[in-house]
Amino acid sequence: MKVWFNPSKAIESELSAIAVETEGFGADFVPGVRPADPKFGDYQANGVLGFAKKHGMNPRELGQKLIDAAIASGRFDPDMVELSLAGPGFINFKLSQAFIWQWQLDFSTKEDYQSGAKALKGGRKIVIDYPSANTAKQAHIGHLRPMVIGQAISRLLDFCGADLVRDNHIGDWGTNFGTLIMKIKRDGIDLSTLGEDALVTLDQLYKDGSALETEQPELRDISRNELVQLQNGDPENTAIWEQIVEISKVAFDKLFEQMGVEVDITLGESFYRDKVERIYDELTEVGLAEESDGALVVWHDEVKKFARDNERPYPFNIRKSDGASNYASTDLATVLYRLEAFNADEVIYLTDARQQDHFQQLFLTTEKWFKAKGYKLPELSHVFWGTILGSDKKPFKTKSGESIKLQELLDEARSRAFDVVTEKNPDLSESERHEIAESVGIGAMKYADLSSNRTQDYVFSWDRLLSFEGNTAPYLLYAVARINSIFRKVGIDPEAAIEGASQLETETEQALARKLMGFVTALELTLNDLRPHFLCTYLYELTSAYSSFYNSDKVMVDDEAVKARRLILCARTRTVLRTGLELLGIKPLERM
Ligand code: ARG
Repeated sequence: MKVWFNPSKAIESELSAIAVETEGFGADFVPGVRPADPKFGDYQANGVLGFAKKHGMNPRELGQKLIDAAIASGRFDPDMVELSLAGPGFINFKLSQAFIWQWQLDFSTKEDYQSGAKALKGGRKIVIDYPSANTAKQAHIGHLRPMVIGQAISRLLDFCGADLVRDNHIGDWGTNFGTLIMKIKRDGIDLSTLGEDALVTLDQLYKDGSALETEQPELRDISRNELVQLQNGDPENTAIWEQIVEISKVAFDKLFEQMGVEVDITLGESFYRDKVERIYDELTEVGLAEESDGALVVWHDEVKKFARDNERPYPFNIRKSDGASNYASTDLATVLYRLEAFNADEVIYLTDARQQDHFQQLFLTTEKWFKAKGYKLPELSHVFWGTILGSDKKPFKTKSGESIKLQELLDEARSRAFDVVTEKNPDLSESERHEIAESVGIGAMKYADLSSNRTQDYVFSWDRLLSFEGNTAPYLLYAVARINSIFRKVGIDPEAAIEGASQLETETEQALARKLMGFVTALELTLNDLRPHFLCTYLYELTSAYSSFYNSDKVMVDDEAVKARRLILCARTRTVLRTGLELLGIKPLERM
């Protein structure tokens, strides 16, 4: 029997084939295989129960029949996997030591893992909408999570075989441009002379412009008019707008580079400005949209808070009463574009938790509209997150209460990591310490963000995220560096094949080997919910299993066969850890 890369998926399909082909179960039989409580085995199938009930059969009898057929089929070698009936009709699967060891031999490189993992998202066209910041504003701490979480999810989807489009849906068509243009023209500013810190200046111009509007409300009309002029294609305003967008792009590209953010295309809100008319027409035509005080709105009466008869009516407003488009209109046009231009099977949006209502209304509207028009409906999901808090449990701000600039945060991460590395390893050259600090500093920040369940708030703490103990990036990076040093000592390449190993013996070896296989389950779990903390928890547990193994089973022993198998376990731990860190956007280091 060939060892399965992903046992739960393989068991699911083998069992379903056997049930249907040789046992005459209907096609409605779903084995329902999932990871089991380790007390009972590795996996458990619980689908027999529901199926038996539905067809008026005895679940235990049916379960036993299926087990017998599975063994008779030869697709479940008893030396590799043991099947047993449990409880009211569950089937338990326990992988043998032989299986677990063979798995280590058959899957040894990142490429092996990737070709196995490909089946998880195989060829699905997925558009991921991130980091999608608003233009003309400096990046601050609020931009950290979209970059970090979006990047990890993108890498993961790509690794698992998705055909990915990373679409940076920037907010480049907002009302703030009216105020900005008013202020720029009033002061006679030539944007092309601003130089390096142009975005900082723009940020200030906008703030000053808004303050001015508060002092002299009549300026609001001027700003509004500048916006209308821009939207009507006035050449002067368009030129200013283009410069603003370019200045933002340059500043963001610099951050993307440091953060490891990759995007495939940038189609901002402005890209959809000539595509919204069709949205108004189609939604009206299918009877979803209606006029309300001059605006165009969509009601979703089945959801209380969006229903017409609610005390505070809150419909999906898709066109403002002055006829202008808004966030909702562009998002509707965007969904359609993603279907028509990319033939998306799936669209994933990333924003903070405050936009949940918007996306709920967007998805409901899209479902009804696409159904009415007979368009293929992509799977739509909103990945959102909580707030980053300071030690006072309030949103993380500077001491004077301002929002923290992202660039300053990155610089601080590097310099703090440099101090930590210097303390730990004063003998390394300064340039090497800088290189290590880059990966440790930025990596630690990313990891702290990813390792907490994204829907919850978390407290930002330099001491904790840079600690070499606990569920942190330095802890994982250090484990990789330590394994590298073992291989340097032995004088072999950790990626090279290691021959002559004997089978696993000690409990700690076996526990580590089983944990290594758990990588597959961790990937699945992370993908199902698009929650990277599952992968972090797994990598942390793997490192702990590795430590227990390393502390109790000496690697450098005289017995060559024992040494070989222990080196194999070290090499696999290294590969899984490195692969996992890379998926999270963290660069593994040779030494630390
Ligand atoms: N620019 C928006 C913001 O900063 C996020 C855009 C998210 N994507 C979308 N298609 N709505 O809040």
